[in-house]
Amino acid sequence: MTPAYDKYLNIFEDYLNKTLKVLIKDVPNPLDKAMVYAVTDGGKRVRPVLCLAVADYLGVDVNFVLNYALAIELIHSYSLVHDDLPAMDNDDYRRGKLSTHKKFGEANGILTGDALLNLAFECCYLKDEISKNEYNAIKLIAEYAGSKGMIAGQVLDLINEKKEDVSKEILYSIYENKTAKLITLPLLVASAISGNKYFEQLKEIGFNLGIMFQITDDIMDVEGSLSSIGKTPNKDAQSGKLTSIKIFGFDGAKKVAKQHYEKCKAILETIPNCSFLNEFIDLMYNRKK
Ligand code: IPE
Ligand code: IPE
Ligand code: MG
Ligand code: MG
Ligand code: MG
Repeated sequence: MTPAYDKYLNIFEDYLNKTLKVLIKDVPNPLDKAMVYAVTDGGKRVRPVLCLAVADYLGVDVNFVLNYALAIELIHSYSLVHDDLPAMDNDDYRRGKLSTHKKFGEANGILTGDALLNLAFECCYLKDEISKNEYNAIKLIAEYAGSKGMIAGQVLDLINEKKEDVSKEILYSIYENKTAKLITLPLLVASAISGNKYFEQLKEIGFNLGIMFQITDDIMDVEGSLSSIGKTPNKDAQSGKLTSIKIFGFDGAKKVAKQHYEKCKAILETIPNCSFLNEFIDLMYNRKK
């Protein structure tokens, strides 16, 4: 990606590999293998990288937030495992390989997702003592990933996916919850641990970045290939799924993504010298995977 992105990515990958090995030591076969399969190889690690980079920017030692960054990536990975299940999007490929239920069977797919979610909260409690700021961060993780956050978004996504007359407002409520919440979360976790520095600005950046991220995902579903996006291309159109493209049209969706990109840039002007986020927002706007 960029040298700064790769720096945080490498720190995170080292920590993930080391920590996961310890945490799954007593997990029975094949659950242990399925958990490792679902989490390792192929993910961009956008959320943990964001968490480490913003913590660093806010003056928090990155080592101090690694367990929370891992918790968020475990939750994100579980959301993908469940998202791909036959009862949800029914996708055979994820991160450039067979989706977890395709590889290990449907029941194991469900249980792997459950296990990763619980493991995320084990990660939150890895330290013997938790400060008030960390307590606030853990509360945010539970809230943003839960039934008023990402899971709410997934439910709304399924309720509306085959409807034809969905309003822009409903689309936004789906995208805000299913995607923007887990993109905002690492920013707010970093902020909470710093004592809430730039909390409101980061929340607004997370919203705009998250909506832009999901619209870009919809665009890549049309423009991408299995080798570039690591999932079956044209899946949304083929299944007649509600996406930003259905609501705004292809060029319209690109325009809306640009508006959110510009909004991110404008808010960023109120956060001095945050070169990482500046660069990151460009990377996400121009992403092809
Ligand atoms: C995919 O997220 C799901 C969406 C929210 C669009 P990512 O694009 O971050 O997936 P990985 O982690 O890199 O596989
Ligand atoms: C995924 O949205 C959102 C979550 C998994 C929470 P999509 O269903 O569009 O993601 P992909 O395209 O399968 O990665
Ligand atoms: Mg989905
Ligand atoms: Mg999906
Ligand atoms: Mg998609």
